[in-house]
Amino acid sequence: MYRTHDGNELRATDIGSTAKLAGWVHVRRDHGGVVFIDLRDREGLTQVVFRPEENAELTGVAHTLRHEDVIEVEGRVAARVPGTENPRLATGDVELVPQTLRILNRADVLPFPVDSDPSNEDLRLTYRYFDLRRPSISRNLRLRHRITKATRDYLDEQGFVEIETPILSKSTPEGARDFLVPSRLTPGKFYALPQAPQQYKQLLMVGGIEKYFQIAKCFRDEDLRADRQPEFTQIDIEASFVEPNDIFQLVEGMLAAIFRAARGVEIPTPFPRLTYAEAMDQFGSDKPDRRFQMYLTDLADVFATSSFKMFRGALDAGGVVKAINAKNFAALTVGQSNELTAMAKHYGAKGLAFIKIENGEWKSPLVKFFTAEEKAALGSKLQAEEGDLVLFTADKREIANEVLGRIRLRIAEMQKLTEGSEALDFLWVTDFPLMAFDAAENKWNAVHHPFTRPKAEDVPLVDSGDFGKARAEAYDVVLNGVEIGGGSIRIHEPDLQAKMFAALGVNEEDQQSMFGHILRAFRLGAPPHGGIAMGLDRMVMLICGAASIREVMAFPKNNRGLDLMSHSPSGVDARQLRDLGLSLDKKHE
Ligand code: AMO
Ligand code: AMP
Repeated sequence: MYRTHDGNELRATDIGSTAKLAGWVHVRRDHGGVVFIDLRDREGLTQVVFRPEENAELTGVAHTLRHEDVIEVEGRVAARVPGTENPRLATGDVELVPQTLRILNRADVLPFPVDSDPSNEDLRLTYRYFDLRRPSISRNLRLRHRITKATRDYLDEQGFVEIETPILSKSTPEGARDFLVPSRLTPGKFYALPQAPQQYKQLLMVGGIEKYFQIAKCFRDEDLRADRQPEFTQIDIEASFVEPNDIFQLVEGMLAAIFRAARGVEIPTPFPRLTYAEAMDQFGSDKPDRRFQMYLTDLADVFATSSFKMFRGALDAGGVVKAINAKNFAALTVGQSNELTAMAKHYGAKGLAFIKIENGEWKSPLVKFFTAEEKAALGSKLQAEEGDLVLFTADKREIANEVLGRIRLRIAEMQKLTEGSEALDFLWVTDFPLMAFDAAENKWNAVHHPFTRPKAEDVPLVDSGDFGKARAEAYDVVLNGVEIGGGSIRIHEPDLQAKMFAALGVNEEDQQSMFGHILRAFRLGAPPHGGIAMGLDRMVMLICGAASIREVMAFPKNNRGLDLMSHSPSGVDARQLRDLGLSLDKKHE
């Protein structure tokens, strides 16, 4: 037996008893011959003291210990010398005075100190097995476990069955590139790693499973960001005979259970809902961060008869004049205002106009074009007051929304509006567009995925080819401006599914070769069904307060998709390629 107690367990009440601990040398301090070791295990720290007068030989060995050596000590639990207690440490009243010391393993020169927070992430990822010893990462992974356990318990109580689906599978479009796996047994053919278990979970519904879930690995070859990894995990859910409200209730209950288990808080349910159109109009984003206001305000009625050309021109052309009021931001720096203007232009705006309200005065080259009534209406609509900064843009609706939406978020960052906030703002965004036109490809794409159902009242729009106006029975769940989940009610009729594929430019032949199995399945009595997938990594990141999903995954890839620890991706030998019937381009050899 290596230990009788863990590193966070000994208390004043244990004084006088014996204990055995095992772990890592976190810190070693030598004081006039006395050696103090902070012994660390995953639970915490205990001070171990070697005094030459008590055990000269053992103290001599203790002198040779270095950071991260692995040791086992057994001895007497003693009170610390009065005045040297450490109230910040749970074990801070006591110390262990060993009679035995066993060195279980020595540590070499360390890549970085365990108690540091190295800013070089590539270094951390190269030595990830070592990085994992840092208490912050270990805490995140244990919290992640709490979250998946609460998820499984909750879904089990609701009658959901966890079923694994294949990793070697067929391409399912979710909007990213596939990772491909060449098949040795069928040379020249490839499996695709699933971007999501979407088709399998729908086929499970055809199979009468009715309530499925899976903590599922998904693979997407796309550009990486702080909240994106090439392989990530979803809490994937599908159910039969459900409407959106059934999914909303289920997910609200699940998130409540998760936050209870992980954070000990009760989150208010049901969550508020916004349609996609409302979210875009009010926040310029389909994942609005509502922890601060700064709403996008439509000023059409204020400027309908304005003589100011820039605004009237936009309105007369069917566009909008919109503004946000950044409270207490009139004193922004020139650098900040230049950045915001550049950002507006980058996202397609013709311009961004500012009004600063300072010393009771509206400061802006625009103000001279406004009538007294326009000024009064503007002031009251935007609740503009001393110290505020109003930002305007006049443009096409989509551009104005997008631009002000981004400016709004950037200003919130500049003003640190959410820093240190404990707020948990959950929200459903519903009624997404069904399709979006991709100008580069000159074709319509599914906004969610091609299995998503059009809203019943919008099916005629699909029939008449008015694709841009059709809305989907699709929803996202958003937490503090991050999309943590998305789903939809699906198409379960083969004819409607074929119609949808046709709208997306998939011809008859490709429909059969790519999706024949699902079209056939729908002909054998497919029940109405729908579901959702939650981005587990993103959710855990928010719950842990981590800055990136890499902080909540044991072995993430870096931001270039590389595993720096094991050096993957890596080359393969010629024989492996031959077996697969593959050869490399000259330039990649
Ligand atoms: P969707 O593509 O919206 O839906 O994905 C669901 C959730 O997964 C998370 N997510 C990611 N997390 C980390 N890295 C990534 N690269 C990444 N991509 C997505 C997001 C997102 O909300 N099959 C559908 C679900 C359904 O219709 O039921 C799907 O995968 O938090
Ligand atoms: P310009 O006429 O382009 O020199 O612009 C004069 C001022 O109006 C500058 O502050 C511009 O940023 C602003 N501006 C120009 N076009 C727009 C627009 N469409 N919406 C809001 N402000 C604009």
